[in-house]
Amino acid sequence: MEKRLIIAIDGYSSCGKSTFARSIAKELNYIFIDSGAMYRAVTLYCMRKNFIGKGGLNTGGVLWEIKDINIGFIYNPDINEYETFLNSENVETEIRSIEVSAHVSRISQIPEVRARMVELQRQIGVNKGIVMDGRDIGTVVFPDADIKIFMTASVDIRAKRRHDEMTGRGIVIDFEEIKRNIIARDIADENRDISPLRRADDAIILDNSRKTVEEQMSWIRQIIEKKINGS
Ligand code: DC
Repeated sequence: MEKRLIIAIDGYSSCGKSTFARSIAKELNYIFIDSGAMYRAVTLYCMRKNFIGKGGLNTGGVLWEIKDINIGFIYNPDINEYETFLNSENVETEIRSIEVSAHVSRISQIPEVRARMVELQRQIGVNKGIVMDGRDIGTVVFPDADIKIFMTASVDIRAKRRHDEMTGRGIVIDFEEIKRNIIARDIADENRDISPLRRADDAIILDNSRKTVEEQMSWIRQIIEKKINGS
């Protein structure tokens, strides 16, 4: 039987990590997990309970309810994609809102939230054959991953991609606001105490500022081929 791999894709926000990870998973017939969606779903839950918002952060509330937060991914055959579910509710669209983006860094800094997400992520990856994207996949979640990629791209290109994606979904949003949010999240991701965003020593850097998804795919195919066949 062909060797099944764990592929970890980490990097800055809005670098196209999920698009890339999803394409790899489709090609290999692997599970794809967008770990950022899990932190976004927890954030949405906390916003609804007013644990985070204008009144600041109520960490005690988050900790009290963390065990009640269940996150899963369910395949939608109509769009041929997995969608994010929070306690049985499809939240795929809502977790992408700018409000969730504005609060997710605070929530993802809570150690107990991270511990719970890492536990769930490892459970999902137990049989290998998985491509997971995030910030700490190659460093913390799967330090023994077969392939680790660290993605980066210029801030302007990332802001433009996210802007196009949101306007494409009918959301009216200012480009500069998106750019500010991306810069703020880079700073938060790189400087948090627990599992900060950093390249694993054995991760390969991919700057996709000027690369199409197809170019990225031809690049990774060779790396995967070597890992599977050892050639
Ligand atoms: O990939 P994304 O932008 O959807 O992720 C949303 C937030 O979740 C991001 O600001 C940082 C956090 N995150 C994290 O801390 N660890 C991960 N493995 C994935 C995301």
